[in-house]
Amino acid sequence: MRIVILPTPSHVAEYAADRVLDVVNGYKNPVLGLATGSTPVELYKVLVTRYQAELVSFEHVKSFNLDEYIGIDGRHQQSYRYFMNAHLFDHIDINMANTHVPLADGLDAKELALSAQLYENNIKVAGGIDLQILGVGINGHIGFNEPTSSFASRTRIKTLSQSTVEANQRFFEADEFQPKLAMTMGIATILESRSILLMATGEQKAKAVKHMIEGPISSMWPGSILQQHAATTVVLDEAAASELA
Ligand code: F6R
Repeated sequence: MRIVILPTPSHVAEYAADRVLDVVNGYKNPVLGLATGSTPVELYKVLVTRYQAELVSFEHVKSFNLDEYIGIDGRHQQSYRYFMNAHLFDHIDINMANTHVPLADGLDAKELALSAQLYENNIKVAGGIDLQILGVGINGHIGFNEPTSSFASRTRIKTLSQSTVEANQRFFEADEFQPKLAMTMGIATILESRSILLMATGEQKAKAVKHMIEGPISSMWPGSILQQHAATTVVLDEAAASELA
């Protein structure tokens, strides 16, 4: 695990954008794993700026997002499909058909299981993920692999923990339906990525960051399994790194 500590969230976003460009400009058929949430918003802004400056083309990129809510469809402003289109895909030259977000809404149990398996297969057919971008939850989750998730888990449905529902409440109106279920890549799926870049910013992430980097590997802090991944970089701002020894 390589740890990079930078002064501010902007530095973290620039650093992450450099790593994404290394892959996109350096590989013939680059495959990116992408995350949503507040943390990568600045990264996606930087990527759009670099695309506009003609420093990168996403024409040959395939992407796979970590997760998607169940119970809202891709037109809902809080869906992760909507998020990705609005923050990144609508502003770059990626082929929309090459962008993948788990298909989870409106399916019955059998279809959900098939959809999860298909997602795994699609990643394999694409050749596997070259660079997976991750954030971390305040409870240590990666993707929506909440505490106690199996390290052997594959793409599947997860019930969000109370802590995650509360943390994500800020995105929903007070009287709006907020999903409590999601489809997420599993931990084993994530660990198959050839390289991983986990971004964390802000003091509220400091405890999860400490457990992830310095704690024992434990399914109570799912991010801690990244200690065993051969090519993981954790990039932090000073606030997120503030509890490290
Ligand atoms: C998002 C995801 C989550 C977030 C995490 C941090 O696709 O899988 O694990 O990365 O919840 O979210 P933010 O960045 O909003 O603090």
